[in-house]
Amino acid sequence: MLNFVTFMECLNAPNSTCMTSPGVLAPVVLTLMLVGAGALLARRDRKRFRVLRSRGIWGTFLILAYSVIVLAYFFLFSPDAVMGAAQSDIENGFWITAVLLCGIGIAGLVGMLGFALGGWLVKKKKPASSSATMANRLVIAIDGPAASGKGTVAKRIAQHYGLPCLDTGLLYRAVARDCVANGAALEDEVAATAAARALDAATLDDPNLRGPAAGDAASIVAKMPGVRAALLDYQRRFASQPGGAVLDGRDIGTVICPNADVKMFVTATAEERARRRHLEHQARGEDISYDMVLTDIRRRDERDSARNVAPLEAAADAITLDTTTLNADAAFAAALEIIAAKRKT
Ligand code: CDP
Repeated sequence: MLNFVTFMECLNAPNSTCMTSPGVLAPVVLTLMLVGAGALLARRDRKRFRVLRSRGIWGTFLILAYSVIVLAYFFLFSPDAVMGAAQSDIENGFWITAVLLCGIGIAGLVGMLGFALGGWLVKKKKPASSSATMANRLVIAIDGPAASGKGTVAKRIAQHYGLPCLDTGLLYRAVARDCVANGAALEDEVAATAAARALDAATLDDPNLRGPAAGDAASIVAKMPGVRAALLDYQRRFASQPGGAVLDGRDIGTVICPNADVKMFVTATAEERARRRHLEHQARGEDISYDMVLTDIRRRDERDSARNVAPLEAAADAITLDTTTLNADAAFAAALEIIAAKRKT
């Protein structure tokens, strides 16, 4: 039988007889059972565990508060009743109830602390594994210099996994377009930041954003901290969609999605990138020489890598994919292998 007096006596003068008596063993066993129950419930349904824990702690706290107030009243204003003399029936009833509730409150509080401890132990022991998170969501960050093939790889990966895809370069291209359309100079940071804040994502499919002039203008406004800050939220919201997303740019793995499940840095030699970009221009009927494209790519590489804010660089945990000798299919296959290897770890 649970015996509070025996328990307290044993705490005062511990000895082998009292420690194995039912009055001491019972509360210890009960508390351990509550630790187990807390751990079990926290593992199965952490939400219900939290609700029970808070209700339990509040309940026992209220019982204790009530009994302590009543007992304090007796000690202060009716010490005779405490000594067992001259008690009315009502006083007697209050006194016995308060003593009983005080015992229940203390036992309940110890039990609830045990229950909470159980849940805490489970939490410490079983952190959510990253592969479990990856099974539900997949955020892929792809960075790299101009014309490295990152956009093509990003689109094909997104299609393969059924994920939304964002070419973040378009955001900077559109900001430069709007800044000029508003009559401001590209170097005007206040105007560029205002254009970034007012950017309408529905205008990103504008074909004029694809040309080399738009890319060069984009790299001018992309140096500005105000512009980058204004575009940050939009990109992070895009990345936090329920199933995940694929984003490509310059700072996705380093700034926008530092916790991305997979990070790739897609690169190629400047000459090979210029050759590809030149072919793209020719396919669109644009009259621009290979040498001009190469100069533009080198200038942009330099500007993007040298800027103070979010420069073009591979995240420490990114895997580099050099596409210099790979065609689009081979680059896509290599990217899939990188993702598969990462998902296995
Ligand atoms: O397609 P390409 O790689 O030539 O360029 P883009 O990805 O459309 O980016 C155009 C310019 O925007 C880049 O040269 C960067 O200066 C800037 N950018 C950036 O700073 N950060 C990003 N996440 C994406 C683009």
